[in-house]
Amino acid sequence: MSEAVAETVAARFSELYGAEPHGVWAAPGRVNLIGEHTDYNDGFVMPFALPHTAVAAVSRREDGVLRLHSADVAGGVAELRLDDLSPESDKNWTAYPAGVVWALREAGHAVTGADIHLSSTVPSGAGLSSSAALEVVVALALNDLFSLGLRGWKLARLCQRAENVYVGAPVGIMDQTASACCEAGHALFLDTRDLSQKQIPFDLAAEGMRLLVVDTQVKHSHSEGEYGKRRAGCEKGAALLGVNALRDVPYDDLDAALSRLGDEEEVRRLVRHIVTENERVERVVSLLESGDDTRAIGPILVEGHASLRDDFRISCPELDLVVDTALASGAVGARMTGGGFGGSAIVLVEEPDVDAITKAVTEAFATAGFTTPRVFEAVPSAGARRLH
Ligand code: GLA
Repeated sequence: MSEAVAETVAARFSELYGAEPHGVWAAPGRVNLIGEHTDYNDGFVMPFALPHTAVAAVSRREDGVLRLHSADVAGGVAELRLDDLSPESDKNWTAYPAGVVWALREAGHAVTGADIHLSSTVPSGAGLSSSAALEVVVALALNDLFSLGLRGWKLARLCQRAENVYVGAPVGIMDQTASACCEAGHALFLDTRDLSQKQIPFDLAAEGMRLLVVDTQVKHSHSEGEYGKRRAGCEKGAALLGVNALRDVPYDDLDAALSRLGDEEEVRRLVRHIVTENERVERVVSLLESGDDTRAIGPILVEGHASLRDDFRISCPELDLVVDTALASGAVGARMTGGGFGGSAIVLVEEPDVDAITKAVTEAFATAGFTTPRVFEAVPSAGARRLH
């Protein structure tokens, strides 16, 4: 299948730019199994890659020009001069690929220009890391074409810088690392402090289970204020507690830490979420590594959702309805995933229950007058790679 996709994207590139591309690359979106908003607190996360990818056909240029085109956005080829790229000057989709070129050059990498055609199947604004997929696919293509020697987390760091500084969204490192480093059949246990990683086998089908993604169709945007406010609140908590990051508050010391925060009610809630969420990631990892029944992670996902809803306060009625309806219909576990304020939820289900739970959630949305959600099954898939 990826061969056919590569050919289609390459053919469109040839039409646009009048020559075959030098190569075709793919980078996936992700869902996060557990570990939400922990990544900018130096904590733990556990994403896995989706089968949905951003695909880029790319050729290198030597003349300081960057040409960009997307199959997913109306409009023609955008032409930019590398020397004119500057942070936050561009508020269009082109900021993602242009930001990557800018970040690479800022870091001293000799990128002299490129022609790029992009096409993505990662739903945008759905909390599934469509932006990270775009960034990582462009970074990997340029890495290969200009022999930059950047792989894995080094590539992810540059993409994060593109998004933080060039696009202006204060995101953590999870999504870019997931897109760059995930492996098929595994979830990625990532320590966002030192970026050490462990691939954890995650084969639900072998245990008669499935993981559904429910895209609520409620759009979110990380450059808007709420994400940044949570991040600032966590940083305030770390400062008040005298630690570098909330990662440094041990779970066993949580009560003492909360009492030291006195009447800082909002900061106390944020701190409680981060400290308990890190502990949840560690519990999920040890359950999956122990080889015990994977169903045991279900209640931990549900705890995580409650913490995001009540303490971190980033859920919304649509996400809560997915979780409540799925659990009432027999799901093993469910929670919102990603940055919040809309986007997607994940639902862990027994294989025979897939249709009934999908139907129950869809009907509950209709009854509530919400837009019909998009439900699909997520199989842990490969990270970024060259297709052609
Ligand atoms: C978004 C950000 C990530 C992470 C999640 C929440 O996806 O891009 O860095 O903070 O939200 O876990």
